Amino acid sequence: MTQKEIIVLTGTNSQVIIDAGECAEILHWGKPVSGDIASFCSSLLRPVPYGRLDNDVAMTLAPELGRGVFSSPCLEGHRNGADWAPVFTMTEIKSNSHSVTLTSEDALAGLRMITELSLDKQDVMKTRHSLINIKSTPYQINRLANTLPLPARAAELMTYYGRWVHEFQTVRQPLQQGGYQQENRRGRTSHEHYPALVAGTRHFDEMQGDVYGFHFAWSGNHRLRVDVKADGRRYMQAEVIYLPGEITLQQGEELTTPWLYASYSDQGLNSMSHQFHSHVRESILDKQIINTARPIHLNTWEGIYFEHDPDYIMEMATQSAQMGVERFIIDDGWFKGRNGDKAALGDWFLDAHKYPNGLTPIIDHVRELGMEFGLWFEPEMINKESDLYRQHPDWLLAVEGYEQPTGRNQYVIDLQNDDAFNYLYERLDHFLTQYAIDYIKWDMNREVVQPAHNGQAAGHQQVVRYYQLVDKIRAAHPKVDIESCAAGGGRIDFEVLKRTHRFWPSDNNDALERQSIQRGMSYFFPPEVMGSHIGSSHCHSTRRRHSIEFRGLTAIFGHMGIELDPVKELQEEKQGFERYIKLHKALRPLLHTGRTWRVPSDDEAHQIHVVVANNQSEAVVMLAQLAMPTNSLSGHLCIPGLDRTAIYRVSILDKPSNYNEIVNYQPFWTEDSCELSGEWCEDVGLTMPILDAESAILIKLEKL
Ligand code: GLA
Repeated sequence: MTQKEIIVLTGTNSQVIIDAGECAEILHWGKPVSGDIASFCSSLLRPVPYGRLDNDVAMTLAPELGRGVFSSPCLEGHRNGADWAPVFTMTEIKSNSHSVTLTSEDALAGLRMITELSLDKQDVMKTRHSLINIKSTPYQINRLANTLPLPARAAELMTYYGRWVHEFQTVRQPLQQGGYQQENRRGRTSHEHYPALVAGTRHFDEMQGDVYGFHFAWSGNHRLRVDVKADGRRYMQAEVIYLPGEITLQQGEELTTPWLYASYSDQGLNSMSHQFHSHVRESILDKQIINTARPIHLNTWEGIYFEHDPDYIMEMATQSAQMGVERFIIDDGWFKGRNGDKAALGDWFLDAHKYPNGLTPIIDHVRELGMEFGLWFEPEMINKESDLYRQHPDWLLAVEGYEQPTGRNQYVIDLQNDDAFNYLYERLDHFLTQYAIDYIKWDMNREVVQPAHNGQAAGHQQVVRYYQLVDKIRAAHPKVDIESCAAGGGRIDFEVLKRTHRFWPSDNNDALERQSIQRGMSYFFPPEVMGSHIGSSHCHSTRRRHSIEFRGLTAIFGHMGIELDPVKELQEEKQGFERYIKLHKALRPLLHTGRTWRVPSDDEAHQIHVVVANNQSEAVVMLAQLAMPTNSLSGHLCIPGLDRTAIYRVSILDKPSNYNEIVNYQPFWTEDSCELSGEWCEDVGLTMPILDAESAILIKLEKL
């Protein structure tokens, strides 16, 4: 056994203190403390009450039943019925001030566990376990979970729910005995169970409270649990849901869990988001995305759906370029026999009827117009009505003998089948090699049922093989940007983001719905990875109508694009697209590098979104009126994050066309501009104008 050690990991505004002896327990995760920490830790020794085990039992990073931790254990597995209650003992501790690697072993059960945990300068912690079978017989794993403790004052949760066209919805609930559990069994990250949650002190909000944010970086089935133990201690646990019999380790083989990311802040949700956004920018995103302006998209989907006519598409491209679009993407409908959503998935060959002259003339045209070119794929999917299925009916991810339900008329391809994997790689590689393609939209439009390879469960391995396929494409074509889409926001998580550049948060382009979807997504993701498109005035998924101003302002706060047929749009609308494209380009450097603040308002019908430059030289504020104003006066707008000692010029950049018609008069500062100190803006604020429901204004602050 190793010596007992107190390990201190230090971030910028947080600290983790770990007591590592036979096993490892986090004693403190919160504000940084200094002094003789190792000796101070003795103040935390617990009493042992009657009626329980006779010794104190630590709530470790890897809870074990055999050690007397009656919580959800870190590992459930067995060796043909034996070795099912392992107790690991530390054999090696390697640490520095930011990270620790703990190795422990149970020689009887024949298992070794390696736990990695680090805390970076952005105050984001990440942890994972690897389990290795060191005995000669196979070891079967049912569960392997990552566990982090929460303090007793973490009494409230913010969790997520959603569905197709309604992603990233948040809900608050008390954290009490009985805890919280979420299970995702849909085979992809899912619209329903985004793998993240926040625990915090009672009534934590955007600006205050101790909060602990968690994000489980995995694009398949998962379970998240937050529990209150009978003794009052609390913990958060995240794991992959392995299907029966799915994971067996032969001697020397290992299973590594996904990373569980976590971040603590004592200043509420905004500050937690700043930490996650900085971490994503520093450590997850491809540096290419940081160093180049995110090009404005025109995506053809809602413009033409499956109706592809090359001349018409070229006209769409011409008009897109005139509006200032920088990347033109042909969505679904371009490949052989793809005239609707019932057939052709898998047949990744250009449709020669639709494109008799090939793709090159279109790509050349797009490039001559100064735009990049992108193309849609849905590699993991197959329709039974396809040449691929007729040739390879055995490539389905399915259990033989069952007729599984379809989703959007399609099935999933078994990526563990090497021939299928290689075929998909070859097809993607062919297009990326043959054509000047800068971007692919990688879709995944159905959920996974009965995932099997050679009859055995393969849900976990399917996800691993998906990562491998993307990685292989990225390695061969490192300059190609990839968007992760899964019928909108069905595959959005940090692990996908390591290998892609952008997400499609939702198939819902309704600006009102997008306000809440983008807000929910903003807790963990910075705006530059959030695709946000102006759709047509009559929204295709909700049938609502919105002004170009409301649609435009909602779309500029992400990675902006347009999703319609510009050829058919009225002149007035086109001028609107042009205006918001110009506005986005002017604000893009600020929006895509600055700090995002979600500002609370007394009126729940308001949504206020602020982005402040890192050097505090400028800021933009979107005040969106989501529903009818609750009161006849709109209250004060307080703007956080500014340089409190500086003077800012505050002016309106954009407003609804009826802005002056709906009141006797609006606040005077919105007509011209005013000069205010950062301190005034933050603590006193400005009178907000009166807006109609489903409209917004954009305010600019420039430091003088
Ligand atoms: C999914 C995507 C859409 C579009 C269609 C094409 O639904 O989310 O944006 O690409 O597929 O079939």
